[in-house]
Amino acid sequence: MHVGVFDSGVGGLSILSSITRALPWVRLSYCCDNLNFPYGTKSDEDVIRLSVDITSRYFAEAKFDVLVIACNTASTIALASVRAALPIPVVGVVPAVKPAAAASRTKVIGVLATPGTIRRPYLADLIREFAADCEVVTCGSSALVQLAERKLRGDIGTDDEFRHEIGEIIAGCARGLDQLVLGCTHFPLITEELRRVLPAGVQFVDSGEAVAARVAVIGQELKLPAKSREPRFSPEITGYCSGESFELSALGLNLGSAGILRLRRLP
Ligand code: DGL
Repeated sequence: MHVGVFDSGVGGLSILSSITRALPWVRLSYCCDNLNFPYGTKSDEDVIRLSVDITSRYFAEAKFDVLVIACNTASTIALASVRAALPIPVVGVVPAVKPAAAASRTKVIGVLATPGTIRRPYLADLIREFAADCEVVTCGSSALVQLAERKLRGDIGTDDEFRHEIGEIIAGCARGLDQLVLGCTHFPLITEELRRVLPAGVQFVDSGEAVAARVAVIGQELKLPAKSREPRFSPEITGYCSGESFELSALGLNLGSAGILRLRRLP
């Protein structure tokens, strides 16, 4: 099975990493819209238009069996439009409000996401449906997304930079916040840094495993030949991007040969 993963930037690699761990036999492609990154500060119309345009070009080039929109900002607004544009199953990523609310003992939870995701009715609906018994502290930061991008390029931000971006969450911790939803796929890439500036005991909840489980179900539904389910020793990942070609060394992310991922410009 060939799974295509898409994000505005490098954040979707956290989802890709969950997929390789859960489904070591899949073939993977990764594509980021580095020309138009970031999505978290863009209008709904722009996020929809860009998501449809780039995923269509990505599909025409890579021809995967399933697409994962590994971006909360895009999934919460553009999922239906991308589904309508592509002839294959499309999986989105949803902020993990439901498991966080269920696991919370204090009934104070946090949602850390991009400003776009924080203001979407989609998130308000999730909170109403699954966290009605919780105080939900939300925090939108695009600078945190940039800090994650910088980290994957070898430049780690200072504790003060991280602390500055999550003031609402730190304040929520004083009221007992015990579960923090990482509602942007960039944020599982900076958990070490977030942990350093948050009280011990705050649990991070992301959507990586849930997305991988959904991809596994789709894989079964597609009834692919058994041969395509043999585990690979190191994942084979083809990288694409919308702007200038570039290379990433994402150690610890299980990205195959020497941890180097090359992303080349889509035609
Ligand atoms: N990684 C993306 C998300 O999950 C968005 C980052 C951005 O482009 O602002 O929301």
